Amino acid sequence: MLFLAAFTALALLFVSASASILQLKQSPVTLSLARRLNLTSAHNLVRHDQARAKYLGNRSSNLNLHSRDASTANRSEAVDNQAVTYIADISVGIPPIMYSLIVDTGSSNTWVGANTKYSSTSGVVTGNVVDVQYGSGEFAGIEVVDTVSITPSLVIAHQSIGVAKEAEGFDGIDGIIGIGPAGLTKGTLLPAHDDQIPTITDNLYTDKVIADNSIGIFFHPTNVAEDLNGQITWGGVDNSKYTGDITYIPITKSSPASDYWGIDQSITYGSDTPILSSSAGIVDTGTTLIMLTTDAFNKYKNATGAVDDQATGLLSITPTQYANLSSLFFISGGTTFELVPNAQIFPRTLNTVIGGTTSTIYLMIADLGSIEVAGLAFINGYAFLERFYSVYDTTNKRVGLATTPFTNATTN
Ligand SMILES: *[C@@H]1O[C@H](CO)[C@@H](O)[C@H](O)[C@H]1NC(C)=O
Ligand SMILES: *[C@@H]1O[C@H](CO)[C@@H](O)[C@H](O)[C@H]1NC(C)=O
Ligand SMILES: *[C@@H]1O[C@H](CO)[C@@H](O)[C@H](O)[C@H]1NC(C)=O
Ligand SMILES: *[C@@H]1O[C@H](CO)[C@@H](O)[C@H](O)[C@H]1NC(C)=O
Ligand SMILES: *[C@@H]1O[C@H](CO)[C@@H](O)[C@H](O)[C@H]1NC(C)=O
Ligand SMILES: *[C@@H]1O[C@H](CO)[C@@H](O)[C@H](O)[C@H]1NC(C)=O
Repeated sequence: MLFLAAFTALALLFVSASASILQLKQSPVTLSLARRLNLTSAHNLVRHDQARAKYLGNRSSNLNLHSRDASTANRSEAVDNQAVTYIADISVGIPPIMYSLIVDTGSSNTWVGANTKYSSTSGVVTGNVVDVQYGSGEFAGIEVVDTVSITPSLVIAHQSIGVAKEAEGFDGIDGIIGIGPAGLTKGTLLPAHDDQIPTITDNLYTDKVIADNSIGIFFHPTNVAEDLNGQITWGGVDNSKYTGDITYIPITKSSPASDYWGIDQSITYGSDTPILSSSAGIVDTGTTLIMLTTDAFNKYKNATGAVDDQATGLLSITPTQYANLSSLFFISGGTTFELVPNAQIFPRTLNTVIGGTTSTIYLMIADLGSIEVAGLAFINGYAFLERFYSVYDTTNKRVGLATTPFTNATTN
């Protein structure tokens, strides 16, 4: 253990040194991501992820703004505040004002102003209204074109952004930087038109600020509530953050996962218990847990012997069952990604933060819930992304995954 910790510290030292050398040269350019935890119970976490899944799975049915307005007025889902978020600090306008934005691969509009007000004088109002729903929460506002500065060397002179007039579910956060496929912006403008809004990444590429229309995301697992444990790289990958080779997986053909960073994947528990046969689903930074279709979730529950924990809404296992827990194997693009037992459990130091008890062991695998959509059988959320480096490659329409120095870490 001690040796491992010392080795990790040494590796980190080395990594940060080489990363800064990389940055000095040119793009790719990297920005830190800070994790924030704002949880009073895990119930809203599970509910939030389920509401999001339901919306992602049914987004195309909800595209018409007018019918959406009507349904919003009588919303049946509870709006849960974003509970676990990864935040990037990004400036908008001249003079620049800094906003803390959620980095979201499952949506593609970028907007500000939910908390810190937008007061830029350099923005040009287009006259369009922007309205985006997120399953749990929504935002509505006006479209402006303004300068967005991610870092001093990553600047987009003319970026369409939303300026919030109203936002629900984003307390304490300024907005979202949407880095999903640009197609997800279709139908978010009023008056309605078919055009999609180029994302920040698209514009960086078009403006030749980055050489590659792709993003690399790295998180390391953490057991404290607030931590600067992530980074996003525009224009390529950060070689120092992953180990071995990146497996590139083509975007799935199955809808609705094909609208997102969707891949085909199968899952087994241990060496011989099938959990999910090859199915489409998505990789999503806006989801905290690993969500599985009810049938797959029940198989996992059976295989682990876990029970539903009333206090938190998560699955729980006993220490004896934990000692006997097997790895979950995610097979995609011909590569097997092993999620070791420690990666399947909620960080125990944070149990009481979610309304649990210190001695209980909670699992990070949850039920997708009441959606019955073929083409969305899983969501690989943070619990997965904290163990595997991920690449979102627009040019080649593919997702990349690789192991990291933290894939097998025993942080939790
Ligand atoms: C999908 O959206 C449509 C239109 O809003 C709605 O009628 C339907 O109930 C939704 N289906 C699910 C599974 O949520
Ligand atoms: C919402 O639904 C309730 C009962 O179904 C109805 O009384 C109410 O008028 C509806 N509100 C709106 C804004 O449509
Ligand atoms: C945490 O969430 C609550 C609502 O759930 C909100 O009132 C509060 O402002 C949030 N705090 C922070 C620091 O984001
Ligand atoms: C779980 O196990 C029970 C009994 O061991 C069995 O009856 C049930 O069908 C299993 N469920 C699934 C989804 O495998
Ligand atoms: C340990 O796990 C295996 C399969 O993963 C299962 O068959 C066995 O019953 C488990 N043992 C205990 C004591 O839970
Ligand atoms: C993680 O540990 C497993 C053994 O449980 C091993 O097979 C695998 O190679 C390790 N992965 C990494 C990335 O170190």
